Amino acid sequence: MKATGIDALAFAGPRGYVEMAELAQARGVDPAKYLSGLGQQRMAIATPCEDTVTMAVEAGARALQQFDVDPAEIGTLIVGTETGVDHSKPVAVYVHELLGLDTRCRTFETKHACYGAMAGLTASMDWIASGRARGRKALVIASDIARYGLNTPGEPTQGAGAVALVVAEQPRLLRFDPMRIGDYTRQVMDFWRPLYSKYAFADGHYSIRCYLEALAGARADALAGRESVFDELAACLYHVPFVRMAWKAHHRHFELAADDTLDPEHHETWQRFEHSYRQRVEPWLSLNAEIGNIYTGSLFLALIDLLRQADATLEGQPISLFSYGSGCGATYCIAEVVNGAVAWHAQLDPAEHLAARRRLTIGQYESLMHQTEHADRAESLDPSSYDLKGGLYYVGTAEHQRRYARR
Ligand code: HMG
Repeated sequence: MKATGIDALAFAGPRGYVEMAELAQARGVDPAKYLSGLGQQRMAIATPCEDTVTMAVEAGARALQQFDVDPAEIGTLIVGTETGVDHSKPVAVYVHELLGLDTRCRTFETKHACYGAMAGLTASMDWIASGRARGRKALVIASDIARYGLNTPGEPTQGAGAVALVVAEQPRLLRFDPMRIGDYTRQVMDFWRPLYSKYAFADGHYSIRCYLEALAGARADALAGRESVFDELAACLYHVPFVRMAWKAHHRHFELAADDTLDPEHHETWQRFEHSYRQRVEPWLSLNAEIGNIYTGSLFLALIDLLRQADATLEGQPISLFSYGSGCGATYCIAEVVNGAVAWHAQLDPAEHLAARRRLTIGQYESLMHQTEHADRAESLDPSSYDLKGGLYYVGTAEHQRRYARR
């Protein structure tokens, strides 16, 4: 079996963000609910000129450049998204052209809520393991804009961004154990977005229960009757719709591994759980807290956070990854941090992008949300009117065709 996994990784996101404390104030909510109840500090907000395509291209270009991957080496391109820009034409084919990939590169889009990029990652590893890749690499990009709408319960769990992963044999960052990848699928109505709506609908509390059931199901499939490796895991990464969800997920993960229910009255066990959370989960949630839910990319944002901080003690260690997509589909897997992965800190770290972001007032954010509703039909959009320059932008739809330009 060929050793495959993640060879390069990069994030790209919009230039604007909202402070959660200000949003709470505007909504008449105690800021502690957003800051500690949900665990969110800021939320990335896209202008009408920043869309799923522009973010995907920026993340893809960064992953190829920073890790010195020649675009000619890419034989499969998959964009996982639940916020596509066309009912027929995949985001991936725009990305294919804008990244200058070869015509022999197989290219498509995957959709299963937040699960689309994990589906792309496992499909890419299968493509390589089958031998069909013939030495080439895959580029998998998660790109999404999470929109629940103003004054909804989901509003503080929005966000936007893209994560690009290069998948290859003998990867430089993370190697997966193909015998420890487990899946789970069940038709549930926990979160969905009908064809006529720009905004997602969610049965929020039910969606949390569905997520936790999927974690148990996918983990059981990955273990397939073998012993738990929970105690050996150096880090546990989860899909992070909001930071507190990772705490809930780790709580369930801990119970599953112990085959027992956690009781806060049992101080010793509870302390072991809290210690485990502080060691294995909490340190890698700072990007999720800064950016918000980016749907397909949220799990991989936590992975970037882990690898940008990793020291040599993490190399060779196993970690777990859990991807959940509403509706629902999930995968739980075990992977190993590759020796030498810590040499890539600078290439992975989006700190420079975060420092260059602009804070939006709540009035500006609300206005952007309204403008975005009409952006798909706008004939001409000017990125400079949103103070955007030096990137690729969506500039409007003429003759029913979306246009992109570098400004
Ligand atoms: P809500 O009803 O507004 O909030 O909805 P709540 O009352 O449940 O409070 C949230 C937390 O804040 C609670 O913590 C409160 O106790 C706490 P918990 O008890 O759960 O640990 N709280 C406070 N803490 C401190 N000070 C206070 C205070 N007040 C309350 N004053 C909900 C929250 C997440 C349901 C909502 O935002 C929502 O519907 N979000 C969207 C759905 C979602 O994110 N679901 C997550 C699982 S499904 C998933 O991950 C898939 C997804 O990414 C989509 C995809 O797959 O494409 C969503």
